[in-house]
Amino acid sequence: ASTAAVIPAAGRGVRLGPGAPKALRALNGTPMLIHAVRAMAASNAVSLVIVVAPPEGATEVKSMLDAHALPERTDFVVVPGGATRQESVKLGLDALPPGYETVLVHDAARPLVPVDTVDAVIDAVREGAPAVVPALPLADTVKEVAPATAPGAPEPVVATPDRARLRAVQTPQGFDRATLVRAHETVTNDVTDDASMVEQLGLRVVVVPGHEEAFKVTRPLDLVLAEAVLARRRL
Ligand code: C5P
Repeated sequence: ASTAAVIPAAGRGVRLGPGAPKALRALNGTPMLIHAVRAMAASNAVSLVIVVAPPEGATEVKSMLDAHALPERTDFVVVPGGATRQESVKLGLDALPPGYETVLVHDAARPLVPVDTVDAVIDAVREGAPAVVPALPLADTVKEVAPATAPGAPEPVVATPDRARLRAVQTPQGFDRATLVRAHETVTNDVTDDASMVEQLGLRVVVVPGHEEAFKVTRPLDLVLAEAVLARRRL
């Protein structure tokens, strides 16, 4: 069974500061999206990558892919995205041809995920899990807060979940195709990852070890870290 990867890359990246859509910004001279596409294509199991581009930028993204060296054995498709990540993933899934039974969903904003992590996710799906997420233990303690009682007032802490039971989840998340399609057809509330939609269907979602280098490039400091990781890899 073949594996396809859907890469939602239609976000503006507002938290990164002003400029081009996040996925199109360069890391050490190469757009973040190209790094992310290469990270998926690095797995021998992945034979199709569907890039979900900013709605007005599909042509630009297509030429960007054409202008960079990508593995010959992988096919690439570009489709325009939507207003939310969830919508963008759905539009990517709509473009998935028959024959792909394992689907990865990978944020363009995680350009440096190592191939071993990608393969571990694919293997766990192939071994029968309907949904698989790479995840890491938390370094920080996490607090749940309530809204402040007045504007500018401090937020009161409500609870401190046991850190040992929490995981920070990354992408690529891996799915049995039929499960992911059903999740996107059924779940209508807003979610921040795809696996939570499968959880809402009442199906089993499992965790495999994530990787530090699969961090999400969200804020300006993350760009500094990403470029340092790339520089170290070239040594
Ligand atoms: O905003 P956030 O960092 O959670 O975005 C995660 C991924 O979802 C990014 O790769 C971003 O480009 C993508 N996205 C999208 N369509 C949107 C919003 C975000 O494809 N409307």
